[in-house]
Amino acid sequence: MKAREHWSSGLGFVLAAAGSAIGLGNIWKFPYITGENGGGAFVLIYLICILVIGMPVMLCEITLGRHTQRNPVGAFRAVSPGSSVFAHLIGILVVLGGLIMLVFGSWGWGALLLVIGALIFRFGWTMAGAMGVMSGFVILSFYSVVAGWTIGYIWKALAGSLSFNTVSEAGAYFKVYSTNPWWGIGCHGLFMIMCIMIIYKGVRRGIERWSKILMPVLLLLLVVLIVRGLTLEGAVEGVRFYLTPDFSKIGARSVLIALGHAFFSLSLGMGAMITYGSYVSREENIFRSTLFICILDTAIAIMAGLAIFPAVFAFGFEPGTGPGLAFQVLPAVFHQIPAGSLWAALFFLLLLVAALTSGISLLEVVTAYFVDERRWSRHRAAMFFGFVIFLIGIPCSLSIHGWERVEWLHVPLVKVFQVSQASFFDFMDDLASNWMLPLGGLLISLFVGWIWGTKKAIEEIRHGSRNFADVHLVALLAGLRDDPSHNSPIHVLTLASLWGIFIRFISPVAVTIAFLFTVGWLKL
Ligand code: PHE
Repeated sequence: MKAREHWSSGLGFVLAAAGSAIGLGNIWKFPYITGENGGGAFVLIYLICILVIGMPVMLCEITLGRHTQRNPVGAFRAVSPGSSVFAHLIGILVVLGGLIMLVFGSWGWGALLLVIGALIFRFGWTMAGAMGVMSGFVILSFYSVVAGWTIGYIWKALAGSLSFNTVSEAGAYFKVYSTNPWWGIGCHGLFMIMCIMIIYKGVRRGIERWSKILMPVLLLLLVVLIVRGLTLEGAVEGVRFYLTPDFSKIGARSVLIALGHAFFSLSLGMGAMITYGSYVSREENIFRSTLFICILDTAIAIMAGLAIFPAVFAFGFEPGTGPGLAFQVLPAVFHQIPAGSLWAALFFLLLLVAALTSGISLLEVVTAYFVDERRWSRHRAAMFFGFVIFLIGIPCSLSIHGWERVEWLHVPLVKVFQVSQASFFDFMDDLASNWMLPLGGLLISLFVGWIWGTKKAIEEIRHGSRNFADVHLVALLAGLRDDPSHNSPIHVLTLASLWGIFIRFISPVAVTIAFLFTVGWLKL
């Protein structure tokens, strides 16, 4: 067997993983959900979610990946016990759930759950990895459509056709543009080609090399846009709106939105970090890397808001407009600024760069599975599955403003699964963001915490970060971490024990609560 390719350095890994984390979620979504959920107060809650749940789960994924040196499916398989009572139990419960749904007449979901339950019973924890690979298909197919819009908008901005006086003008234009199949599907295809080309080249010469080029470009573009925004007259209003906490807008719902977004934004719950972690060598300090990746992701999200809100406020536009903020409000905002086309082009370039380094990580999860487990060549896997994802993305793109143009898909989906979402695009987004990712995150933390075991996981983390397990928290805060008297074994509150508690109890409970809320069994 060929030796597994590794990142050339710790920095290469951090940039690639931060590239995966930093994406449309940070620059397109974070600002508008912050706008809708009380500005600074929401940012605060989001930070807590990252610290208490995101970071521990990310460390789980990277540790599992590095230990097994495998894709998500292979990783779960490698450390699963021969048979797990817990997995059998879940399998049986899912089958029961399926039977209940059949009785209640929802035969599509019922039959699906029966099959899934049987698979879980048979393959156990490996199925958690399989779900990650499937999430790769689901997410990239709609992600790439949005990423495609940015390509078209860069072009349109440079051609000077993004000149709107009002948001409704820009909105009408966006609707026409995104429903045009040439632009919609063409640009989606172009984005997939870019992803395929990078993944085709492999870990070092593809992912790492491009992350090292694109991440600094991203940071530079963002800083330039922030400076431009902050120096506009009336910008302070925007900063105030963005960063002043308004606790009256915060409720249980906002907390759940923050939690869900923390997962999506850190690329957790589908094995992207397991896969990237599997290319890390034994000498790297993965605890420190996790810390850097989370800090970078959060900082960029917060900076994105600083690039957007001051400009929006400076020209008196509405901040709380939801998903349309980037494609409908901003073009109108840029039009007010001298050399607006240039700024608009730069902004959409920023979005494209962010989306590209995330898109490749999604394609890499799928590719790594077929390379490791099915013995495909990387070239063939990247091209073939890139194309498959392109095909799945076509109905996403066509259905963006409603099902009308994909009735052939709508009718069976309604018949079989009683789908109620407004479009196929929304269906895929909902499936991945609200179901597959949280479920994946729950399973990963349960698996590392209870099945593989924190003890073995910590042994793995110790390679390259010797004192992660032993540092007494108080000693660390006091700056005394190398002082032997402060690290005696009788201290129990070490970083490692804290991490163990987080992944065994706190994250599973938090995610389960979020889940019950999504299912509708918990009303808040
Ligand atoms: N983290 C990416 C973003 O914020 C999206 C993503 C999710 C990428 C899951 C990979 C895996 O846009």
